[in-house]
Amino acid sequence: MNRQDFLKTLGLGAVASVTGSSLLTGCNTHDMSGMNMTPGMENMRPSVTEIPFTTPLRFPETITNTGQLTAKSVIDAILPGKNARVLGYRGGMLGPTIRVQNGSDVSLRFTNNLDEESNIHWHGLLVPAEMDGHPTQLVQAGGSFTYAFRLNQAANMAWYHPHPHEKTGKQANLGLAGMIIVETPAERALNLPSGAYELPLVIQDKRLDGNGAPTYSPSMDDVMMGYMGETIIVNGVAGAVQTVSTRVYRLRIVNGSNGRIYNLALSNNAPFWLIGSDGGLLPTAEQVTAVLLSPGERADLLVDFSKVPVGTDVFLKSNTFAGASSQGGQAFNILKFTVNKAETDPFQLPAALGMVSPLSTASATKTRLFDIGIAMEGMNGMPMRGMHTIGGKTYLGSRIDESVKLGDTEIWEFDNSKGDEPHPMHLHSTFFQVLNRVGGRNTLYATEKGWKDTVLVMPGERVRIIAQFTKPGLFVFHCHNLEHEDDGMMLNFRVN
Ligand code: C2O
Ligand code: CU
Ligand code: CU
Repeated sequence: MNRQDFLKTLGLGAVASVTGSSLLTGCNTHDMSGMNMTPGMENMRPSVTEIPFTTPLRFPETITNTGQLTAKSVIDAILPGKNARVLGYRGGMLGPTIRVQNGSDVSLRFTNNLDEESNIHWHGLLVPAEMDGHPTQLVQAGGSFTYAFRLNQAANMAWYHPHPHEKTGKQANLGLAGMIIVETPAERALNLPSGAYELPLVIQDKRLDGNGAPTYSPSMDDVMMGYMGETIIVNGVAGAVQTVSTRVYRLRIVNGSNGRIYNLALSNNAPFWLIGSDGGLLPTAEQVTAVLLSPGERADLLVDFSKVPVGTDVFLKSNTFAGASSQGGQAFNILKFTVNKAETDPFQLPAALGMVSPLSTASATKTRLFDIGIAMEGMNGMPMRGMHTIGGKTYLGSRIDESVKLGDTEIWEFDNSKGDEPHPMHLHSTFFQVLNRVGGRNTLYATEKGWKDTVLVMPGERVRIIAQFTKPGLFVFHCHNLEHEDDGMMLNFRVN
């Protein structure tokens, strides 16, 4: 019997609640009785409710190398006309999109105006350990810290979010996250769609109360599955619509959700090109009809609207998918594109994109095995806090779990063969390549042909990755399901 069946059998409901004060005054749990477990409750999937796609998609302001990011409570509308209290780094929810050139110096001043500790992690930027937003590098309420680093990496899409242990899920869910785009001359030379034809998109799901405000109060059930919401938002708006011309668009997508996985596809079933993933461009474009994207992962897509008749709507949607016990059973729309203008398109798909030279397994000095499928159960098999583990351990900030020699290349294996929940495993400090996947889906995907920092390990799977560790210092690796992470599914590693 798995943990969910235990819960069903025991009728265990509303066991867990958020500890600590609510960040938002007037932000109480709304009636999520359907989300809690009651005896006989059959449907545990938080299903998506679509609203009409009528609100113009918006894009956060863009900043470059310097600026101020202040975590604070702000008023913004996720649902049309419903101003609500959320968290953000500037005027509304989310934060600015940071567009920077590789090789340049970045200096961002962070001020914490929350009533609890926070910090910023730059997910997908290779920064020095002391700038990485490690869970022990906290900025107390009222405090400030300047994150300063020089970029040295390939062009990619990264993102940023808080990383205070046990509070990441709440702060990110209530609105703290932002997108980052790193550019290089090599990428610019490819003449990929840019300007109005390049759309950075952060996809999230929220559990909204009657006032349209996100609420965060995970039950034990939510801790097991990840905190999923009924409302899908893109760049902070639900029911978003974007007008497009008959051209190729570059969609740069980050899954900024706490726990929800999307199986991205187009409503007209048209194929599209996957050109990049977490760490940058793939060697060549991969034609796909769907891309599975788990929390933390990015997908760089080219979508061709040139054959779509003017006046037609095409949705970016999530198709159903199998293999994840607690989700995937529902298809839903995410974002509406309305083709409203005929234009000729000069775009030519380049034959070669990024550089991904395979790391050789022969160069690996060590293989580490991590069992991520162990579910800790308390008395009588009942789930408890800290049930999500890596190698049987939950996070302890003061403990160094793994020591890696600086410069070494290693193979890490994540073993979810005994587990019953999907785990998107994320490493700080480096990008990796996915070597293989055994069990479960038993294959590698187009997104896994490039540099990755997050890899989805479904129930039943063992996934092997290879990475070189070139940044010294203390970092974490963890499950990017933020409820699992906050529940302790994170370990420290030191490189030196
Ligand atoms: Cu996006 Cu350690 O996380
Ligand atoms: Cu990260
Ligand atoms: Cu997990």
